Amino acid sequence: MFGRTFTRAFSTLRGQHILSAKQFNREQIEHLCRTASDLRHVVSVQGCSHLLQGRVLYNMFLEPSTRTMSSFHIAMLRLGGQVFSMPTENSSFQKGETLEDSIQVVSGYSDVIVMRNPQQGTPHRAAQVSRVPIINAGDGNGEHPTQALLDIYCIYRELGQVDGLTVTMMGDLKNGRTVHSLSRLLANFKIKQLIYVSPQSLQMPNDLVDELNRRGIKQAACNNINDAIAQTDVLYVTRLQKERFADVNEYESLKGSYNLDANFLKQAKEKMIIMHPLPRLWEIPTSIDADPRAAYFRQAQDGLYLRMALLAAVLGRV
Ligand code: NCD
Repeated sequence: MFGRTFTRAFSTLRGQHILSAKQFNREQIEHLCRTASDLRHVVSVQGCSHLLQGRVLYNMFLEPSTRTMSSFHIAMLRLGGQVFSMPTENSSFQKGETLEDSIQVVSGYSDVIVMRNPQQGTPHRAAQVSRVPIINAGDGNGEHPTQALLDIYCIYRELGQVDGLTVTMMGDLKNGRTVHSLSRLLANFKIKQLIYVSPQSLQMPNDLVDELNRRGIKQAACNNINDAIAQTDVLYVTRLQKERFADVNEYESLKGSYNLDANFLKQAKEKMIIMHPLPRLWEIPTSIDADPRAAYFRQAQDGLYLRMALLAAVLGRV
């Protein structure tokens, strides 16, 4: 669907904070996916564009990150812009400075701030005082809207459509912010159904299930992936979110409680994909990586182009 189209209409995301997947409509999501495909082409031909020349991104990551931080950083470089990453040590947070004061200051230095924080709701607080757009790159067990946008882009690229699909989410659905955001974005499409597979204590939060119900999304829960796999078009796997467990013994007792084995692929459709926001632990064995349905590394690469599109949209260039 998203070949080279060279987008003409400008995104309504210009100047907006990106805080939650709730804020997106289908048109905005598809505009970002089209722009991502255009920018993928630009990168493949010339490596870099000058769309954001002279603009500066401020990366403020107060939780570990590999893909999100580096793909935002490289997205900005490939758009001709520059990046400053706040050191996690030696910042004034250590002296007790409030988030609000820090944001008032650094929003005077930069054009866009990308932030990750262990506390849910932090980017929303930052947005109250920031003079530039705040992008939520993960707030505790809340949301991760930019991951969900790249997930939708990946589904389009891999399967050509989102409408009509059965999406199965497996893993720590209680604490996994990626599934919270992805389910909300999927509610903009006419998906067939969402199926949840998780340990009893890690189910999708009730308020989110209710929200999706109100939006007309058909949802079902299964105890075992084997009961869902034959009808699944997208299998979205997540790791146990160790850092969100108050009790380490509970984490230890759930380790290994869900995982894929090579046999499960025999029951899966030929045209389906396995996604994972990464990092993976034990839930997907490396023996599955060579199967063409294993899309997680392609998915991670899609993130670079989608984040380029998002930065260009928020800064009013596409
Ligand atoms: C995810 C996150 O940080 O929520 N990682 C990512 O951004 N790709 C998923 C995770 O950490 O499990």
